[in-house]
Amino acid sequence: MKKLRVLLLTHGPLRSKEQDGRKVFVGKERKTENDVLGALERLGHVIDVLALEDSLDPLAEQVAASPPDVVFNLLMKFKDDPAHEPNVASYLELCGVPYTGCSATGITLARDKALSKQVLDWHGIPTPPWRLFRRGAKSIGADFAFPMLVKPSDASGSVGIVKDSRVYDEPELAARVAFLHETHGCDVIVEPFLTGREFTVAVLGNKRLVAWPVRERVFGADAVVPFMTEKMKWDEDYQARNSVRSRDADLEPVRASRLQKLARDACRALGLRGFARVDIRMDGDGHPFVLEVNPNPELDFDEDFVHAGLALGLQPDDTIQKIVQLAL
Ligand SMILES: Nc1ncnc2c1ncn2[C@@H]1O[C@H](COP(=O)(O)OP(=O)(O)OP(=O)(O)O)[C@@H](O)[C@H]1O
Ligand SMILES: [Mg+2]
Repeated sequence: MKKLRVLLLTHGPLRSKEQDGRKVFVGKERKTENDVLGALERLGHVIDVLALEDSLDPLAEQVAASPPDVVFNLLMKFKDDPAHEPNVASYLELCGVPYTGCSATGITLARDKALSKQVLDWHGIPTPPWRLFRRGAKSIGADFAFPMLVKPSDASGSVGIVKDSRVYDEPELAARVAFLHETHGCDVIVEPFLTGREFTVAVLGNKRLVAWPVRERVFGADAVVPFMTEKMKWDEDYQARNSVRSRDADLEPVRASRLQKLARDACRALGLRGFARVDIRMDGDGHPFVLEVNPNPELDFDEDFVHAGLALGLQPDDTIQKIVQLAL
């Protein structure tokens, strides 16, 4: 592939330092940026880096001064607000610059769990039954059985999910819904708690979608809870203490292809392009349900998306190159 001028776009503030003659970003939370930057360098592209905080002017100036062939879009928030993620993608669209990952519309749809579940329902794609309690509305129960899982309808990264998010009766449900309304200021989704195995499927493509080998999240028998809380997601020591890890899923080929088809169907229904990760969980009888679809998922080389590529024999740099190619 020819060498491209790539603009690596992310959210600020972003600090960098020189290390062994190359630029590295400072902070554990910047591992994705460092991994992607390293890959783009090894691939021989010419790279500019831009971190946006609360103005689009630097982006307009950068595009005018040194038009990129492609923007590698790692931006997850603007003005410190994740809800603005699709708006920046819209701006890139208006600038006419190719950018990696999902379109603004796809990001908007997938970010809103209630809206995306309506679309999945309409397409007949299994997602757990659910009830939405808008901010300020009192919980009035749900027409499925306890235990239930209570979560914010517009968050990601397991934000707002704790041990007590699995509720066993009406008072616990009402308390958790009210707590999320008050502390997170968000609408709240309630679903039956699915007791089966948990999987992720990486999907790539624009018109033609391809699903990569299925990954499974395994919870130790002695784990505090058998689901991803916010702490479990972000605290590696806590994960290790609970024997929570991801691995290539050990599934019969026919079951694996069923999950891959489900993931492709979900991405197609939501109009996603570029790359996405579909989170799936089974009920106690082994029936799979789409929990959510993540547009532009984590590309940290230790995360599931890149590991799914490894299972196909693709090195992390190959995965980054594929994502760039899909944007052109
Ligand atoms: N209905 C459910 N039954 C059982 N566990 C659930 C259910 N919904 C969510 N979970 C657990 O909570 C975790 C986070 O849920 P979900 O993926 O919907 O939210 P998120 O905050 O967008 O997550 P991510 O970290 O993937 O961005 C899941 O990985 C799963 O372990
Ligand atoms: Mg998820």
